[in-house]
Amino acid sequence: MKPPQQQRGNVEGVLLSRKLFSSLLIALIVSLGLVCLYYGTSFAPGLRHRDHHPADGSDPVFRSFVAAASDEDEYPSSLSRDAADLVVKSFPVCGMRFSELIPCLDRNLMNQLKLKLNLSLMEHYERHCPPPSRRYNCLIPPPVGYKAVIRWPASRDEVWKVNVPHTHLAGEKSDQRWMVVNGDKINFPGGGTHFHFGAARYIVHIAQMLKFPNDNLSNGGNIRTVLDVGCGVASFGAYLLSHNIIAMSLAPNDVHENQIQFALERGIPSMLGVLGTKRLPYPSRSFELAHCSRCRIDWLQRDGILLLELDRVLRPGGYFVYSSPEAYATDEKNRRIWRAMSDLVQRMCWRIASKKNQTVIWVKPLSNGCYSRRDPGTTPPLCSSDDDPDAAWNVPMEACITPYSKSK
Ligand SMILES: *[C@@H]1O[C@H](CO)[C@@H](O)[C@H](O)[C@H]1NC(C)=O
Ligand SMILES: *[C@@H]1O[C@H](CO)[C@@H](O)[C@H](O)[C@H]1NC(C)=O
Ligand SMILES: *[C@@H]1O[C@H](CO)[C@@H](O)[C@H](O)[C@H]1NC(C)=O
Repeated sequence: MKPPQQQRGNVEGVLLSRKLFSSLLIALIVSLGLVCLYYGTSFAPGLRHRDHHPADGSDPVFRSFVAAASDEDEYPSSLSRDAADLVVKSFPVCGMRFSELIPCLDRNLMNQLKLKLNLSLMEHYERHCPPPSRRYNCLIPPPVGYKAVIRWPASRDEVWKVNVPHTHLAGEKSDQRWMVVNGDKINFPGGGTHFHFGAARYIVHIAQMLKFPNDNLSNGGNIRTVLDVGCGVASFGAYLLSHNIIAMSLAPNDVHENQIQFALERGIPSMLGVLGTKRLPYPSRSFELAHCSRCRIDWLQRDGILLLELDRVLRPGGYFVYSSPEAYATDEKNRRIWRAMSDLVQRMCWRIASKKNQTVIWVKPLSNGCYSRRDPGTTPPLCSSDDDPDAAWNVPMEACITPYSKSK
């Protein structure tokens, strides 16, 4: 049957628009392909800087963006005006000079914003996030030549050097066996400032001090979470895993810069942070054991406020393992600090569980009993009853003891 004239006209029209559509589609695919190819090569690590690496270290693709964003004071008005209600579909990559930017811990920005930070309170190691107009909205690029990470458990002992291109710590801490440069890798022999002979032996020593069965620090599963304060490259936390213990390792970006970068590259739970003026970001009673070996913290400052913060995050009967000259050195200065610390922890109702071989282990009480038996007016006071011990985000520390809730 012959189709009517009108219908044929329609069919031709459809065919024509189909042709047009498919050629448009092909053009679109080709141009997308070209765009991908261009961006693909400029994102590929190692390729990026081979040909056109501008002197300022910024990425050629996004140079204009980065130049605007990194400008000291001036932002293009469109960027600052729209930054708050920007709906982002994709992020550009930041220039290479931002490859180690940590947005809320950016010392350069803190200087530029002229924040009044009290260095003796360590406020400069605390979080200070940029206002919306100073946010970069770009992705931090990996270091040039970045390799796929070595996976746990091999990563406990080695990482690619090119992934954390900072080796001055290896030189500085070589005698303490923190880490050793070995060709294109960095090795971690497991040492620390206090435990040159390795974290594994040190952990067994702690378990022995506490008379735990089988020299196993987990004590039959009673110790599961540990907070390591001033952790270095976090070897202590790394070796706790074989005792079935998860440690959170904490250190600031201080003179041992990049220590947390190494810890994270090794796959050890860790975070940049400091005992300064704000609570640690954990609810009360988060950890069964806290540890500090030569963490260089003055625990006596401000009426013991930092030790009281450790006390808050320790569970009932939790331990504080302290390996530091203050606990064992015999010179007058360290003896004086030891006496003052002993006095403070006694008023906090801690008692010594064991003291041996340059390490003291205190244990926190199991109930409120000891607190209520203290002489009236004894410092530190108990925190007020409207204090929420589990509020942890951006909460200022206070020099008070967090009691257990009444129902306990
Ligand atoms: C820093 O804090 C300490 C302790 O609170 C205080 O004595 C000192 O005056 C403060 N310094 C500055 C510069 O604010
Ligand atoms: C320690 O004990 C835990 C169980 O409580 C076990 O999983 C772990 O393998 C033990 N580790 C060592 C080193 O003995
Ligand atoms: C601890 O000290 C004792 C004697 O004081 C010694 O025999 C032992 O080897 C020491 N242990 C460690 C781990 O240093």
